[in-house]
Amino acid sequence: MLDNETILIVDYGSQYTQLIARKIREQNVYCLVYPYNKIGSKFLVSKNLSGIILSGGPNSVKDKKSPKLDKKILSLNIPILGICYGLQLLCNEFRGKIGQSSSREYGHSLINHNKKSELFKGIKKTSQVWMSHGDHIKKEPNGFVVTSFSNKNVISSIEDKKKMIFGLQFHPEVYHSLDGKKILSNFLFNICKISTKFKLEDFLFNKINELNKKLKNKKVICGLSGGVDSTVTSFLLHRAIKNNLYCIFVDHGLLRHNESNEVVSIFKKKFGNNFIRVDASNIFLSKLKKIKDPEKKRKIIGKTFIEVFEKEAKKIKNVEFLAQGTLYPDIIESIPFFGGPTAKIKSHHNVGGLPEKMNLKIVEPLKELFKDEVRLLGKKLSISPDLLNRHPFPGPGLAIRIPGEIDRKKIDILQRVDNHFITYLKEKNIYKKIWQAFAILLPVKSVGVMGDERTYSYSIAIRAVTSVDGMTADFYMFSKEDLTEISKRIISNVKEVNRVLYDFTSKPPGTIEWE
Ligand code: XMP
Repeated sequence: MLDNETILIVDYGSQYTQLIARKIREQNVYCLVYPYNKIGSKFLVSKNLSGIILSGGPNSVKDKKSPKLDKKILSLNIPILGICYGLQLLCNEFRGKIGQSSSREYGHSLINHNKKSELFKGIKKTSQVWMSHGDHIKKEPNGFVVTSFSNKNVISSIEDKKKMIFGLQFHPEVYHSLDGKKILSNFLFNICKISTKFKLEDFLFNKINELNKKLKNKKVICGLSGGVDSTVTSFLLHRAIKNNLYCIFVDHGLLRHNESNEVVSIFKKKFGNNFIRVDASNIFLSKLKKIKDPEKKRKIIGKTFIEVFEKEAKKIKNVEFLAQGTLYPDIIESIPFFGGPTAKIKSHHNVGGLPEKMNLKIVEPLKELFKDEVRLLGKKLSISPDLLNRHPFPGPGLAIRIPGEIDRKKIDILQRVDNHFITYLKEKNIYKKIWQAFAILLPVKSVGVMGDERTYSYSIAIRAVTSVDGMTADFYMFSKEDLTEISKRIISNVKEVNRVLYDFTSKPPGTIEWE
């Protein structure tokens, strides 16, 4: 990836750092995110850097223990854009004055820019932006000019054109900053003078060559679930190393309606005998018998997955590599920011533990990409849109959508309900508007009446959320007609169910899954 013109985003702990990266990638510019305290000198010179963005952050520069500006960054002599805390760091460094106000400037705000600034080129004099700050600039550093004020008369941007240093008090990366995209594009193309765009075609071509060299005559195994990440990983590797790729699909019996058969038919066609399906549903379900605790379920599924996968993989002799569908957000999140792990809400199931156990080297061909880029790459690899645009599905599958004990009967009910719900969303073209939709089988039976008969059957909850990355989510607002039809279809087709509830909880405070 050395040849890409790259923007380095220095992370000071803002909740919006990944959003900055996404907004830059959306403009087809390659960028990398690094925590402020993990940037080595070698790294800075080894990359083809065209500009640097300093992110926002929760600290105050007036606090002695707050993250500092790394002087190495200033010595590179390339354009720098500080956003919020990043701006205040620059102001502090060049001896401007920072003030602390009793109240935060938070939310929508209007800014007026009067001076000619390259950053605001093509933008009307007054622009709506998103603010989120306590500290503010009281006096700009010598040599800098103020280029805009907010309607509360707070300095909103400064710059020193000669030094190529720019700063914004507001967040151009946030959707509510209506000219944010243009401001970032001005920085990238007019100030940093990025001339070659990051193209997925080039990425694909280079990646295949790179994998080809690295894995020549080596055997690689890949855990395939049929999800987007593992599917694209396997198709990409197959292009590079053909029959040295072996894909193992562990069917734990907790998949969606007909999913297992679909996965088998697609991948058998593509990989032939190098695609191995293991029906491990009996093992998984017997280990999950009588288990109610969600974390215990996850741990059992994770551990059993490793055991089954390992046993199957050992049948293939002389394997050296394990392929994983790690994406760039996973990499960013796995670099501990302040040295400690981030709060763990749920233990997610992955194949961690396998490489050490089996003495395998890891290959992660998608680790530079975001999810939307992975989908586009999948398209270039001729993967069917049905596979690429599927909603995310958790590793532990339906086990975490059946609160309480699990058995085959409950799985079967939930599969049928879920299928009616999802089919309706697809028919009405709602599926694409939703990040994730699914049903949950509740451990509650209630009384109902159907025809002249009294029923005593299961209750189902349905969940549909919109989201960008699964970190936060909003419930989807169905129309009354949709809710009526969904409920009608489920109850008239699945006799074990007589009540349908809609979950209208956002994340936070809820999570997307129920367990
Ligand atoms: P939550 O429930 O934490 O879910 O709001 C966020 C996203 O992660 C998925 N999820 C999982 N994925 N293993 C996975 O591979 C898991 O254990 C797991 N739990 C949640 C969830 O479906 C949503 O997309």
